[in-house]
Amino acid sequence: MSWGEDETRRGRSMTSYQRSVPIVRTVEDLRRHMQPWRAQALRTALVPTMGALHAGHVALVGGGLRRAERIVVTIFINPTQFGPNEDFAHYPRDEHADARKLAEAGAHLIFAPAAGEIYPAGFCTTVKVAGPAKAGLEDRFRPHFFDGVATVVSKLFIQAWCDYALFGEKDYQQLKVVTRMASDLDIATKIIAVPTVREPDGLAMSSRNAYLSHQDRERAPLLYNCLNEAAAAIRSGTAPAKAAAAARRKLTGAGFKVDYVAARNAGTLAELREPGDPIRLLAAAWLAGTRLIDNVGV
Ligand code: PAJ
Repeated sequence: MSWGEDETRRGRSMTSYQRSVPIVRTVEDLRRHMQPWRAQALRTALVPTMGALHAGHVALVGGGLRRAERIVVTIFINPTQFGPNEDFAHYPRDEHADARKLAEAGAHLIFAPAAGEIYPAGFCTTVKVAGPAKAGLEDRFRPHFFDGVATVVSKLFIQAWCDYALFGEKDYQQLKVVTRMASDLDIATKIIAVPTVREPDGLAMSSRNAYLSHQDRERAPLLYNCLNEAAAAIRSGTAPAKAAAAARRKLTGAGFKVDYVAARNAGTLAELREPGDPIRLLAAAWLAGTRLIDNVGV
């Protein structure tokens, strides 16, 4: 090895060392780490995740960096939002890869607690959500989901107490639930929505896409295509319910098992009432054992 090569290697390992992101596991360490930032009046942004990070999560970090000087990413696979027959035990986990991606994305701190840190013995409080959480979409198929999300997210908000928190439009109902909850509980953290990041063929990025077989991965973009077709039909005068029903038929015909395709008020997720209501089309469907969700604006 020449001197130059050696220097290049050393340079690279220095760079990766300098860019590694500290990981804290306890609320106490999280607050200790963030305290000097507060003392310097640096703005902070929180990005809650369950890990298995992809470009969608990275976009949330990017959205944070546009508003705040310090970004905290949480990685916690929250047991209380999984139903008894869901994929909690198999949910993809790769903390090393996640930490590398977050270093590259420019995050400043990772909070990756164990379950006992978030839910210690004797824990018995639940944040119970209604409104958009009872819209009859995800909640119809995952009845425990939003109380579990609201409980963990409110804890993370209180633990980190950031100026901003970023959530993806990919999980549109979750975004509405969390926004409503933060407002109802006077949590000063401002919720920022980030548009869905997609694969080149249109499939919304998701940690669960890794479950898809090769054949199902090829079919999966049809979900987004059907939502786009329905949105275009509504824009050119088709009744929203009719456009949603056509999307459902097309997906079913292509082998998807559809949980719902629905046109809802984009603000509240309530059923559409007035012709001028802003519309969001939302869908969830299974391909074999993998459940995909997506949504588009009209
Ligand atoms: P997770 O599925 O890991 O998603 C974390 C955040 O990334 C959510 O705000 C989600 O909407 C966003 N996200 C996921 N895929 C995206 C994509 N393709 N484009 C843009 N954003 C995307 O959602 C959860 O975790 C959990 O419910 C959580 C909020 C962390 C509470 O446990």
